[in-house]
Amino acid sequence: MKTEITIQGLAASLSPARSARKIIGFVPTMGNLHEGHLNLVREARKLCDVVVVSIFVNPIQFGPNEDFDSYPRTLEQDQRLLAEAGCDIVFAPSVEQMYGNKPRLTNITVGGITDDLCGLQRPGHFDGVAVVVTKLFNIVQPNYAFFGQKDYQQLAVIRQFVRDLNIPLEVIGVPIARAADGLALSSRNGYLSPENRAVAPKIYQSLKAAEQQLQAGAALPDALQNMKAALTEAGFAVDYVEARAPDLQKIEQFNQDIVLFAAAKLGATRLIDNLQVKYPAS
Ligand code: PAF
Repeated sequence: MKTEITIQGLAASLSPARSARKIIGFVPTMGNLHEGHLNLVREARKLCDVVVVSIFVNPIQFGPNEDFDSYPRTLEQDQRLLAEAGCDIVFAPSVEQMYGNKPRLTNITVGGITDDLCGLQRPGHFDGVAVVVTKLFNIVQPNYAFFGQKDYQQLAVIRQFVRDLNIPLEVIGVPIARAADGLALSSRNGYLSPENRAVAPKIYQSLKAAEQQLQAGAALPDALQNMKAALTEAGFAVDYVEARAPDLQKIEQFNQDIVLFAAAKLGATRLIDNLQVKYPAS
């Protein structure tokens, strides 16, 4: 496995694969990798001849009071894990390599679906994701790109701009990887104190409880209200508990497949999770 830190280096490393028309798979990450990321790499390995993973903590998707500076940077450990998972090339550029030192005058805003859920709490976040992911797509030029469904709204935003801008690749969404106790894997779980780590699985338990209530005929607003109450009772500061159609349109009732969403803070750590619920629930 090679690590490239410049765009030119990556282009040179990928050139033989491109000439031989090999299938290139790409997994964009911000590093501090866990089983969820490694699952994406394994999925890419199944479908592609060459697997590229980027590790880049993207400053423009963090708000002024968010954790850009403290975001865990663990390149050596990540390289070891990636080699074991079957990655061929790690692309780990600097901020200067990605953004240069002249002002960036171009932005990418996906309308509608970003004015909701995490977009309300994190203004500008999805623009920052859309810009960096587009840049990475242009740099790597993969055939397939792999993203986790834990960041469901992010995945929807990426699918949307890929379609709107005719970016020539296929986006693959990979199911959420969970710890044995149900907590969705996330690099931010590492911030949790042992006490909060013990409470954190309640976010998934509350999603499953809401699914069961819907299955038993509860009204959607009641199921959401119960989720919010359970999380608050467990010590979370709830950002939102919501249900949306799979395309993120707002819904009033459970009369189609839906996705349940929760975002809540435990101490200073913001956790998100979601659950796709089939109609009729099964
Ligand atoms: O999901 C992430 O880790 C990031 O938002 C991404 C897609 C790598 C863009 O920086």
